[in-house]
Amino acid sequence: MSSSPDPGTDWRPHVADPSARPASTLPHVVFFEPRIPGNTGNAIRLAAVTGSRLHLVEPLGFEMDEPRLRRAGLDYHDLAAVEVHADLDAALATLPGRVFAFTTRATTSYADVDYRPDDVLLFGPEPTGLPDDVLAHPRVTDQLKIPMLTGRRSLNLTSAASIAVYEAWRQAGFAGGA
Ligand SMILES: C[S@@+](CC[C@H](N)C(=O)[O-])C[C@H]1O[C@@H](n2cnc3c(N)ncnc32)[C@H](O)[C@@H]1O
Repeated sequence: MSSSPDPGTDWRPHVADPSARPASTLPHVVFFEPRIPGNTGNAIRLAAVTGSRLHLVEPLGFEMDEPRLRRAGLDYHDLAAVEVHADLDAALATLPGRVFAFTTRATTSYADVDYRPDDVLLFGPEPTGLPDDVLAHPRVTDQLKIPMLTGRRSLNLTSAASIAVYEAWRQAGFAGGA
């Protein structure tokens, strides 16, 4: 896929020419095989309001014109940078920076990282999380957790991504934000 969307009328995610990506002070957000359209819709909204760039790794658990995805993304679709990749290696081939895998099993806190704009924040599918082979991927720099109270299973996928993106944006002085 390489066609461009027609903003406002025919929004479609696409694999952009990496050199033509919008500049951002924020890391890339990668959702590995997301299953729930509302979560990805909310992540599109997150990308639109922060300027973070969202990457979706197939297979997806929904069609990209799914009404629940569009509803959760409100009218922000044409304001968000979204790319769809056939698999994780295809995505990472276009993303040269460090890769942080978010998992409840990590011991390092997401708050202990100095984020860079070319970093990749990698999140797992609902409800299973990132599989072992992805966590062991040679491109993964570190695994990160978001602290929770003892005995709680996990945050919602897009809640976790929002916490990480806003920490990176806070570190960047909320550049461009008002
Ligand atoms: C709904 S959760 C998956 C739940 C799965 N049972 C697990 O423990 O990973 C979806 C994704 O959100 C991220 N996530 C949720 N809570 C997290 C936490 N406390 N720390 C780090 N990542 C988290 C992870 O990337 C996870 O794969």
